[in-house]
Amino acid sequence: MTTTLIRNVRPYGEDATDLSVRDGVLVGAFGPDETIDEDLDATGLVALPGLVDLHTHLREPGGEEAETVATGSAAAALGGYTAVFAMPNTNPAQDSPVVVEHVWRLGREAGLVDVHPVGAVTVGLGGERLAEMGMMAASPAGVRMFSDDGRCVNDPLIMRRALEYARSLDAVVAQHAEDHRLTVGAQAHEGPVAARLGLTGWPASAEESIVARDAMLAAAAGARLHVCHLSTAGSVGVLRWARGHVAARDGFGVSAEVTPHHLLLTDAAAEDYDPVHKVNPPLRPEADTLALRRALADGEIDCVATDHAPHAVEAKDCEWSVARPGMLGLQTALPVVALTMVGTGMLDWRGVARVCSEAPARIAGLADQGRPLAPGEPANLTLVDPDAAWTVRGAELASIADNTPYEGMDLPCSVVHTMLRGRWTVRDGRIQQSEGGPS
Ligand code: DOR
Ligand code: ZN
Repeated sequence: MTTTLIRNVRPYGEDATDLSVRDGVLVGAFGPDETIDEDLDATGLVALPGLVDLHTHLREPGGEEAETVATGSAAAALGGYTAVFAMPNTNPAQDSPVVVEHVWRLGREAGLVDVHPVGAVTVGLGGERLAEMGMMAASPAGVRMFSDDGRCVNDPLIMRRALEYARSLDAVVAQHAEDHRLTVGAQAHEGPVAARLGLTGWPASAEESIVARDAMLAAAAGARLHVCHLSTAGSVGVLRWARGHVAARDGFGVSAEVTPHHLLLTDAAAEDYDPVHKVNPPLRPEADTLALRRALADGEIDCVATDHAPHAVEAKDCEWSVARPGMLGLQTALPVVALTMVGTGMLDWRGVARVCSEAPARIAGLADQGRPLAPGEPANLTLVDPDAAWTVRGAELASIADNTPYEGMDLPCSVVHTMLRGRWTVRDGRIQQSEGGPS
């Protein structure tokens, strides 16, 4: 038996209390004669359920010069995460039971967060033939989320079949909503900034039209659709319409995520012509940013997901037009959410727990994550110092790549400790490698 007493902590930022953990589970209190193995003074810290990220690129296999499952897991734990979903645009792609099981095993070996591989919708993310979704669901990785992220499932018939198949597997299809016919050569949000810089524009309608189409397809199939990295005010309007006005078969559901960078940064960031600000979907004007914040506060957007996208120096330290899109996110997500949502009074810490842990766990169907901080629940915890500001330095982050858009920026709060099923993965801001192998 191991017992940990976390003293004087503030669950959800509310009144201070003690949390007791016995053998990986939160308990009401220890017995009068019980030995306490570890006693942690957490005065001033906010306790949240461990964060869950539905959208992480861990790059292994095939992209190990930018990230591995082990380094990405470390970045996740340091960012307060206890579970992450690893997108399938690896090389080879996660489009078969063999590859998803491989990534899942690498996650277990790293032992710092639960790594759930996302299965590809189509073979090689080619958009043409459905991948072995059922076999991936039946593998030890137990895949329940499918996506071609990085690419849109553009063909409506393939998308329809994927949704129907997902329904039978009780799975969700996570769509990267981008009509590729409308974004040929696109480099930045279509608007005055891109025009001034001479960059081909990525119109908001390329996203919004796919969100609308997919909502109709999911409604007809009675399937669950999740929209990745929603980035425009118009897409929020489409979600509202889809939830309120679409006649749907039983089983229909639509959820959506927003990234921290779309909550904070705007297309004006591209003015410096630094490809660290190149991302897909692109950064949008401030009016979109503000609409996304309001939609997250109101629950119209369900959750925050990082779209953590590490890239090697060669892929980023080059001309804007040839640079790869994407930015690091795991270690800065919670502080950016605190800055944009808590600092502005739009969410309290209970709301942060909802959008960063509870909602993503529910969307992905995880039974043991995003749970209340209550006796009998698994001890997956993130302890945050709400007042410990820090300055972001890409070189100091755990990822192999250093493409953070927040270099030199002061962020308002710090993850201090992270606990996964009763074991510290992070103590005092440092990774704790497990001695006993996989947790
Ligand atoms: O910016 C992005 N980077 N968007 C995506 O959809 C894919 C991702 C990546 O894999 O780098
Ligand atoms: Zn994407």
